[in-house]
Amino acid sequence: MNINFELNGEPVTIDAQPNITLLDLLRDELGVKSLKKGCEQGECGACTLLINGALNTSCLVLAPQIEGKHITTLEGLEHNSLMIDLRESFIENGAVQCGFCTPGMLISAYALLRDNPHPSEMEVKRGIEGNICRCTGYTKIIEAILDAAERIAPE
Ligand code: FES
Ligand code: FES
Repeated sequence: MNINFELNGEPVTIDAQPNITLLDLLRDELGVKSLKKGCEQGECGACTLLINGALNTSCLVLAPQIEGKHITTLEGLEHNSLMIDLRESFIENGAVQCGFCTPGMLISAYALLRDNPHPSEMEVKRGIEGNICRCTGYTKIIEAILDAAERIAPE
């Protein structure tokens, strides 16, 4: 079946099996490699992206469900100033080790700071509660997100 949607601002029409997940469609058919395949059960957050601006785990979404929707992945935020701050802060704070969780963490952190530019530490923890990291112990990731928030100019 044909599926029509917008991927990082570009219109896409693709012929896909109705039972393929959004994760497999984007990663395997469209080369969106920032999406990582971890648990495939909605638990690890490695496949996190934005659907119409809202966080979703793409392994739990079937491709036909995105008909007419706007999909944003890390690739689409390459030049976004908030994402640039987050990327730099993750690097400077040592918040990346193996890096498998990092794209999902960055997307979740982006959504958090987009909606709440100056979160408390507890709000940061809640913001990334859907993302599992096996390497960092989370402390450096939380510090990186708080550090990125400090770089956001006050309104
Ligand atoms: Fe989707 Fe783990 S691969 S949440
Ligand atoms: Fe390795 Fe998070 S940096 S899983």
